[in-house]
Amino acid sequence: MGYFITFEGIEGCGKTTQVRLLGERLEALGYRVVTTREPGGCPISDQIRSILLDAGNRGMQPLTELLLYAAARAQHVAEVIRPALESGCVVLCDRFTDATIAYQSFGRGIGRATIDPLNTLACQDLLPDLTILIDCDAEVGLARARQRIEAATGPREERFELESLEFHRRVRDGYLSLAEREPGRFLRVNGNGAVAGIADVIGEQVRQRLKAVNHAIQ
Ligand code: TMP
Repeated sequence: MGYFITFEGIEGCGKTTQVRLLGERLEALGYRVVTTREPGGCPISDQIRSILLDAGNRGMQPLTELLLYAAARAQHVAEVIRPALESGCVVLCDRFTDATIAYQSFGRGIGRATIDPLNTLACQDLLPDLTILIDCDAEVGLARARQRIEAATGPREERFELESLEFHRRVRDGYLSLAEREPGRFLRVNGNGAVAGIADVIGEQVRQRLKAVNHAIQ
C-alpha cells in the first residue's frame, strides 16, 4: 500500500500551493506521487465540482450539497485514490472527508450522525495516513481567496467565498477541533508565514513519517 496525505484548511490558507510544493519535493526524493483534489480529481467528479462551486447555485439545499460531495468522493476514491495507493504511490489530496465535517457540519450545521456514515460510505473506509491542516485567520484567508477569484479567468468558483465571515470562522474552529481530537493523524501548520518556510516544515515532517513506512513505498 502507498501513503495517503490530505491537506485541509479554510479558503485562502495556501494549501493548494503547499500540495504542489510537497509533490515536487517528494518526487525529487524518488517517491511516485499522485496529486489530486476534492471535489474533483477525475472527469465525473469534476463535473460535480462545477455544480457545487457555481455561484449561480445559491439555492442549493445543505443536504443536496452534502450528497453531491459524497457522490464526487465515491467516484474519486474508486477511480483515482485507491488504485494509486494500491500501486504504492504517495497520494496528495487537496481536501477530503475532514472538509465535509468542517464545512457541512460546523459550517452548515448538519449533524455528524448524518455526515459520518456518508463519509464512510463514499470512501469505503479509506482513511488518510496523515492530514496537514494549514491554519490561518478567517479574515486573512478570505481576503486572499477573493483576490484570487478576481484575478482568475475561467468560471467563477466562488459559492463558498460568498459565505459570511462567521461561516468561515465556524469552519476554521471545526478544523481546529478535529485536529485537537486526532493529534496522531493531524499535523497543524501555521499558514500565516512565508510559503517556503511552511513548505520546509511540511516537507521535513512528511519525510520523517515516510521513512517509517519506507519499505512499503519505494
Ligand atoms: P477548494 O476551493 O479548496 O478547491 O475547495 C472547494 C470548496 O468546496 C471549498 O470552498 C470547500 C468546499 N468543500 C466542502 O464544503 N465540502 C467538502 O467535502 C469538500 C471536499 C470541499
